[in-house]
Amino acid sequence: MWWTGYAARGSGDGMELNELLYTGKSKQIFATEDPARVLVRFTDEATAFNARKRAKVADKGRINCAISARLFEEVGRAGVRHHLVRQLSPTDLLCERVEIVPVEVVVRSVVAGSFARRYGLTEGTRLPRPVVEWFYKSDALDDPLIGDDALLALGFAEPWELAFMTQAALTTHRALEQLWDRLGVDLIDAKYEFGRQEGRLLLADELTPDGSRLWEQGSGRPLDKDVFRKDLADLSETYRQLHARLLGGPQAAGGA
Ligand SMILES: Nc1ncnc2c1ncn2[C@@H]1O[C@H](COP(=O)(O)OP(=O)(O)OP(=O)(O)O)[C@@H](O)[C@H]1O
Ligand SMILES: [Mg+2]
Repeated sequence: MWWTGYAARGSGDGMELNELLYTGKSKQIFATEDPARVLVRFTDEATAFNARKRAKVADKGRINCAISARLFEEVGRAGVRHHLVRQLSPTDLLCERVEIVPVEVVVRSVVAGSFARRYGLTEGTRLPRPVVEWFYKSDALDDPLIGDDALLALGFAEPWELAFMTQAALTTHRALEQLWDRLGVDLIDAKYEFGRQEGRLLLADELTPDGSRLWEQGSGRPLDKDVFRKDLADLSETYRQLHARLLGGPQAAGGA
């Protein structure tokens, strides 16, 4: 397979693995010999409720890596600039190195989760148009909701960045909604992160069922991390099924 030997000799194109820059809840970020690029490694860790609940989930790293790579490709076709350069191995993506904007953009098509609780709404109600919300990335504060004005006043983003991220998140969301719809899945909501590189903004981080809600059409069955949050089913098996819908079979997760 094209990635065989990767661990022993780097990516095979001179890209040696370097210093571990960051260990997150579900990914690790490594430097590469190119200072403008990082290697994003997807791990089998699953966390919820700001890591108060955690588990190791078989194949999750490979599945999320493959799903993310496929979805970045899709949104790239829709004209959204993103950080993915190419997939290096079953768990590793070579990405442009960015400085992450400290706010997450959540786009919602259907009422669910904290949006339902906050406004006393019934989960599953389709919104008349996509709703964009901002959350301040702070584990210490449990990623609180933040308004546009506070976000600008506190210097988390420039006005042009706010406008750019809003449009790019909506374009991304629309492209992913259409793709999942063709596969019999409703994209309910999703979280997007952007990063700065040389004065431009790129869609970054991950596009996975860890950061979105995906419900099977017809049954309404969740195919995302809510399965883990609420102990609804086996997460590994659920992610495998989602992967098969998107990429056509378990072998596409990396050869196992
Ligand atoms: N291209 C990139 N360059 C630099 N950092 C990135 C890039 N893409 C994603 N990141 C950051 O790397 C980290 C990925 O790890 P992970 O998602 O596991 O973190 P996390 O524990 O969820 O923390 P966070 O709350 O910051 O997302 C995140 O902080 C993410 O913002
Ligand atoms: Mg994260």
